[in-house]
Amino acid sequence: MKIGIFDSGYGGLTILNKIRQRLPQYDYIYLGDNARTPYGTRSFDVVYAYTLQCVEKLFERDCQMVILACNTASAKALRTIQQNDLPRLAPERRVLGVIRPTIESLGRLTHTRTVGLVATEGTVRSGSYPLETAKLYPDIRVVSQACPMWVPLIENNEHNSDGADYFVKKYLDALFRQNADIDTLILGCTHYPLMLNKIRRYTPQNVTIVTQGDIVADSLADYLQRHPEQRNRCSTNGSCKYLTTESAEKFCTAATSFLHQHIEAEHIAINA
Ligand code: DGL
Repeated sequence: MKIGIFDSGYGGLTILNKIRQRLPQYDYIYLGDNARTPYGTRSFDVVYAYTLQCVEKLFERDCQMVILACNTASAKALRTIQQNDLPRLAPERRVLGVIRPTIESLGRLTHTRTVGLVATEGTVRSGSYPLETAKLYPDIRVVSQACPMWVPLIENNEHNSDGADYFVKKYLDALFRQNADIDTLILGCTHYPLMLNKIRRYTPQNVTIVTQGDIVADSLADYLQRHPEQRNRCSTNGSCKYLTTESAEKFCTAATSFLHQHIEAEHIAINA
């Protein structure tokens, strides 16, 4: 059995990369729903339906567990899938998200107890970050800013262009105008580390930028350590397969440039 990593597009590659560095022995399948990206502007029902279809595809391909390496899907679909669908579909398998481990890391990072969040519209509107943070750290305030143009820039490989600077600066300025005490910035969308250089350029120097790859990788390692019944079902040949709902060729070109290594991909059809 394999470990599935799912995202609406290329963003989950930033998580997969760190997971494979941390846990290279396992077999992985990455699925990017590039044909239907971005998820960030879609309704709750649509994100849930798309995410469930992709989880089912990964289960068909023998995934013992699926990591939703997408904040939008974690915010809008994870709980329903865990509570309603998993008991019916595959009670012995697991679906895990990226938001909870990210929030857990905040306690030791912020001194001013004021944290900034940049994320998709869907993640911001769901209120998941402030709500979950309040449960774990009632003294930490989360100031949110939706960045609806960032994922389309990355999916279209325009994030390194000069034009991208305008939108990076625009949303970061808007965030820091809301509250000057922010000392920690969560990149609450797995696509955003792909343009970390530009984000860093427009973020005040005293602010710590939190990316999710290492956090999620550590959290998965810890989960597998604590759950031998899951761990023992995962095969260990160190392989990784890439699936996309868009053209395989397009995915190969983009993913090869994001990962700085050549990869092969396979197209899969999903009937909406
Ligand atoms: N990588 C997804 C996330 O973490 C992007 C969602 C989208 O497709 O807009 O939220």
